[in-house]
Amino acid sequence: MGGEVKEFDGAIDKGLEGVVACTTKISSIQDATLTYRGYTIEDLAEHSTFEEVVFLLWNDRLPKKEELEKLRAELVANMTLSSETVTLMKQLPAKTAVPMDYLRTVVSSLSMQDADSKDIGDDANHRKAMRLAGVMGAIVAGFHRIREGKDIVKPDASKGVAWNFMYMVKGEKPTDQLAKDFDTCLILHADHELNCSAFSARVTTSSLSDMHSAITSAIGTLKGPLHGGANEQVMKMLLRIGSIEASKKFIEDALNAKEKVMGIGHRVYKHGDPRARILRKMSDRLTKAAGMHHFYEMSANIDDIMQEKKGLMPNVDFYSATVYYTMGVPIDLYTPIFAVSRVSGWIAHVLEQYEHNRIYRPRGRYAGKLDQKWTPVDKR
Ligand code: COA
Repeated sequence: MGGEVKEFDGAIDKGLEGVVACTTKISSIQDATLTYRGYTIEDLAEHSTFEEVVFLLWNDRLPKKEELEKLRAELVANMTLSSETVTLMKQLPAKTAVPMDYLRTVVSSLSMQDADSKDIGDDANHRKAMRLAGVMGAIVAGFHRIREGKDIVKPDASKGVAWNFMYMVKGEKPTDQLAKDFDTCLILHADHELNCSAFSARVTTSSLSDMHSAITSAIGTLKGPLHGGANEQVMKMLLRIGSIEASKKFIEDALNAKEKVMGIGHRVYKHGDPRARILRKMSDRLTKAAGMHHFYEMSANIDDIMQEKKGLMPNVDFYSATVYYTMGVPIDLYTPIFAVSRVSGWIAHVLEQYEHNRIYRPRGRYAGKLDQKWTPVDKR
């Protein structure tokens, strides 16, 4: 071989930047505009509900009244955990577990209770979709109750996913305003074109594996700090900084040390993330109402500094951190909350991948050693 690699010489795109890996009709990012099935995120955040968005993502149209009510009722019915799931959850080390590890493990185990687990046909997939999308919030809330030594709360069948999630985490009924604001957060996080975790779900699906496997892959991918894990890091950073006055030096030190500032920057948006704009307003309003406006001011200050020094703008994780903080959600549940919403988008991607499947199998350009000769172990 003469020490030279003779093989595939396609261009390398590290991180697949700019590579178009599939055709999708689910959501679109054009400049600073995000749409789900053709509806702008601003329109949906203002007028819609999370349940309506779930229907939209899965069916390519808005639901009629009865369809919406049916979907809401089914999702909420699936927020009651089976006794098998509760038994498993109580055996896991909830007090010490990383919440995303716990969520990933429980979701993975659900296939073993699912009568449709081996069926990847359309009808079975739609049944599994409803079960998975409903149960995610119940697992996250149940995990929190178990680690706190409290009873698991059953959902209220007359309410929606957002209301029930808050109720099942805290054990007390949320105000309508809290439920509404949280519902908007769920809408904003539901889908985002070919993001890292949706791609992960599609790669798993492309081998004609099943929906539980695809969603489990996606949860593992969302966990990372460069993706969904960033929202928790943003809040930890703000608490560490402590004051508006300290934020400038903190950010300058971070940039000098070549550290990434969490919640800032985006692979696709170069002129701002529209979700961050909506969340910024919400953060301003909610931190003011909660007597924590300094967190908003610190965030806005960091936002300005990053734009000025690096030309980088906030992404969805930046202002959602302070929003969740005012809602009294524990910081380590911020990323699991992202999954409670994003599961709807992942499922839409899984369904779309099955429709036009071809296995994902890119190439890696070999850059390792050549011409190695094996030697027996005692001669090395
Ligand atoms: N803080 C400081 N610098 C940042 C930055 C951040 N948050 N995000 C990007 N940059 C800088 C990089 O250091 C790099 O600078 P250089 O060209 O001088 O080396 C340049 O901007 C390009 O960044 P890169 O990491 O190559 O972009 P990417 O497209 O691969 O990554 C993100 C995109 C989102 C992963 C990246 O911006 C990031 O890590 N952000 C923080 C984590 C985060 O908030 N993730 C949630 C995404 S929704």
